[in-house]
Amino acid sequence: MAKDIHDILQQDDHLIQSFADLHGLKAQGARTVITRAKGAYVYDSAGSELIDGIGGLWCVNIGHGHPEMISAITEQLQRLDYYSTFYNFTHPAAAALAEKVAALAPSHLNTVHFGNSGSVANDSAIRMLHHYNIRKGRPNKKLVLSRHGAYHGSTHLAMAMTTPAYSEGWHCARDLVHHLRSPHFWREGDGASEAEFLDALMEDLRGSIERIGAENICAFIAEPIQGAGGVVTAPEGYHKRAWEICQANDIKYIADEVVTAFGRLGHFFASQDVFGMVPDIITTAKGLTSGYQPLSATIVSDEIHDVISGPDGMFLHGMTYSGHPAAAAAGLANIAIMEREQIPQRVRKTGAYFEAKLRSLTDIEMVGEIRGSHFMMGIEFTRDRTTKESFGDEVQVGLKVAQACQKRGLIARPLGNVLILSPTLIMDEAMIDQIEMILRDAIQEVAAGL
Ligand SMILES: Cc1ncc(COP(=O)(O)O)c(C=O)c1O
Repeated sequence: MAKDIHDILQQDDHLIQSFADLHGLKAQGARTVITRAKGAYVYDSAGSELIDGIGGLWCVNIGHGHPEMISAITEQLQRLDYYSTFYNFTHPAAAALAEKVAALAPSHLNTVHFGNSGSVANDSAIRMLHHYNIRKGRPNKKLVLSRHGAYHGSTHLAMAMTTPAYSEGWHCARDLVHHLRSPHFWREGDGASEAEFLDALMEDLRGSIERIGAENICAFIAEPIQGAGGVVTAPEGYHKRAWEICQANDIKYIADEVVTAFGRLGHFFASQDVFGMVPDIITTAKGLTSGYQPLSATIVSDEIHDVISGPDGMFLHGMTYSGHPAAAAAGLANIAIMEREQIPQRVRKTGAYFEAKLRSLTDIEMVGEIRGSHFMMGIEFTRDRTTKESFGDEVQVGLKVAQACQKRGLIARPLGNVLILSPTLIMDEAMIDQIEMILRDAIQEVAAGL
């Protein structure tokens, strides 16, 4: 493996980065090479220490390089490197993790299908519901309600459920999906009160169901807090009311907890504990192994499981690496660490402190809105905070602030006019203070230069 930065970059010319401006990247060669990581920090090829302010990609919840994780994965590989969970095969790690995840999930979600990514978890949820409805003799009940601003993944179907802006220039399974209004009050509220806006959103849901026909809709899918759409929280009570409308119309509610589960909002799962509702399916990934191994889970209700596991046919779905032993061992060790170190409980305090510290940045003129919860936060920059006028794309304000942060030792994620922060969940108050200081400095520097 190459060690010299120039060799690495030369080799990297063969790599297609994800969600990147490939043309710009190859032309400028401006890539950050991360060579190692420990705890809340990563280190680049120049040896600089950087606070991992995005927790890998909202996934390294317990922090990097945890020795117990590395031992658990290594021991598993030494004992059983690979076996599938296909046909009548299973293995102890997958079985134990399925039982553990079911125990942590809300009470009627007791069975788990494993995949390799959040995208696959969401595809699996829809495929299972299609099969469920075919078994129930209603093959037309297959359309999905999603929302503008959603991010559900990058496979053909998951991308179709994602907000259309992400698939401009690409084909995806759009004819299966209808997008409801974005729940972003600050941007979309249009002079209404938050309560009126919430009513309008529910009217949009009800009206869409009426127009499309509940008999044609299998699911409503929603992230508890929209992540890659810019960290958008819906008005209080949104999820519960949407869930009730879905229940009344025999439409399954899929909570995409790929980001929000495993501690990020202070609980193992947020749907019930934070948002007071119990979905029919929860999909999750990322924090399930804290990113140490690729693993996702589609957790389904007893009622769905009863139908898909009934007589009359096989369950024709799965991936070679569904429940991979090393990934399952990582999931088990990760949950054990979270339970022992009481990470979700700690996040209720440290995450609230992080949120408060970030919200204190509203005193900077260029900051339009600060949103999110606990360790899932977004800062939107505006040219004029009173009119909420955005900076044009050409300004690249998010990118400029992210670069200014990185210069000061913090990785943050730019997304147009928004900067996303989703650090590891092991931050203490001193580190949080440091993040706030870096952000303040970086934003002020960029603002002064515009
Ligand atoms: C809410 C949500 N769902 C699904 C996904 C897709 O997960 P993956 O990238 O593991 O396929 C993501 C990824 O960021 C996500 O944020």
